[in-house]
Amino acid sequence: MTRLPPGAHTEVLVIGGGIVGLAVAWRAAQRGLRVLVVDPRPGGGAAQVAAGMLAPVTELQYGEEPLLRLGMASNERYAAFAAELTEAAGGRDTGYRRCGTIAVALDSDDREELRELHAFHQRLGLDSQWLTGREARRLEPMLAPGVRGGLHVTDDHQVDGRRLAAALVHACERAGAVLHRTEATGLLVEHDRATGARLATGESVTADRVVLAAGSRSHLLPGLPPGVLPAIRPVKGQVLRLRVPEAYRPFLSRNVRAVVRGGHLYLVPRENGELVIGATTEEQGYDTTVTAGGVYELLRDAHELVPGITELPLVETGAGLRPGSPDNAPLLGPTALPGLVAATGHYRNGVLLTPVTGDLVAEYLATGTLPELARPFSPTRFTKVPA
Ligand code: GLY
Repeated sequence: MTRLPPGAHTEVLVIGGGIVGLAVAWRAAQRGLRVLVVDPRPGGGAAQVAAGMLAPVTELQYGEEPLLRLGMASNERYAAFAAELTEAAGGRDTGYRRCGTIAVALDSDDREELRELHAFHQRLGLDSQWLTGREARRLEPMLAPGVRGGLHVTDDHQVDGRRLAAALVHACERAGAVLHRTEATGLLVEHDRATGARLATGESVTADRVVLAAGSRSHLLPGLPPGVLPAIRPVKGQVLRLRVPEAYRPFLSRNVRAVVRGGHLYLVPRENGELVIGATTEEQGYDTTVTAGGVYELLRDAHELVPGITELPLVETGAGLRPGSPDNAPLLGPTALPGLVAATGHYRNGVLLTPVTGDLVAEYLATGTLPELARPFSPTRFTKVPA
C-alpha cells in the first residue's frame, strides 16, 4: 500500500468507500476537488449483498413522501448515471436493467395491503396499474397459481450492486480520487471543527471537509462528539443467489415482490441468469451470520410465490447490514460539527439513492449550498437544541 506523505492534506476526505462514499468521491473529483477515500476494501459493504432493486414506488411506506421524492429523483437519473459511470470506468457495465416490477399478493390480507398501496399510489399520481391474478401470471408465468392479484409498476428497475461498486472504484481512480486502503480509527477535531482523521496505519490526514459515509458504523467513529450523529441501527438482511440455467430462461422477466406473512420478499432476475432472493429484516446488532432459519424462511416464502425456484442451483448465501437512521431516511449534508458532512443512514435505499446522494453531496462540497431536494434529510434534524 502506498503511504501518505507526512502532513498529508486533502480538500475532501471521505470516510467509507461503499457505493455511497464512492459516488460522493467520484462526483466531487469530477468537480475538481482533491479527494481521498479511506476504506480497507473500497467497493465492499452492503452493496455486495444487496439485490439492487430500484423500487421507490413499490417500496413506498405511508408518511415517507419526502423520501419518495428523493427516491424518484434518483431513479430518474439512474439510466444516465449508469451510462456515464460505465464510460468513466473504461466500459465496466453496472447491470442496470429497465425491467419494471410487479408486487403480488398470496392471500386476501396481502391483497388488501396491496389495494391500499395502489390507492396511495393513485392519490400521489404515481404510475401503478392494478392486476388480477390472471393478469399477473400472464406477465410472469412462473408465479404460483394461487397469486391473488397485484400491482405493475413499470418504472421500478434494478442494478447489480457488485458491478456498480466495481465501476465506481475504477471511475473514482480515473477521476483522480485517491483510494487509501485502510481504516479511519478516529476523527480529528480542532477548535470545534472536524479537521481530518487518524488511520489504522498510524498515519493521519487533514482535510478541509470530512464526509462520513461509513454506513451502519458511521456514528461509532472515535472522536465524533456526542449528539452530532444519531445512532445508526444495523438492520441485517439475509439474501440468496440462485442461477437460472440457459434452458429455463427467461425464468422471470421483471422484479417480483410480495408481502409474505408481513415480511418483504423479492426476487430480482438479472440478465446474466443470476436470481437474487431477499431479504430478511433482523435487528440483532453487527451480526452477519447466515442462519438456517433465514435461508429456510426465504426459500419457503419464495417457493410459495414461485414454486419453480426449487429446481434452480443455489449458488450463494450472504448477509449485509442496512444502515437505519431513527426515521429510516438518509442523513445528507453538513452536520452540527463544522467541517463534517454526512452521507449515511440510507437504510433500505442505499443502492437506489446512490446517484442522487453523489450529486447532492458533491454539490454541497463544491458550492457550500445544500440543494433543496436534500434539505429534508439534513443530519441536524436529530440534533438537540438546548432549551
Ligand atoms: N431495499 C431492499 C431491502 O432493504 O431489503
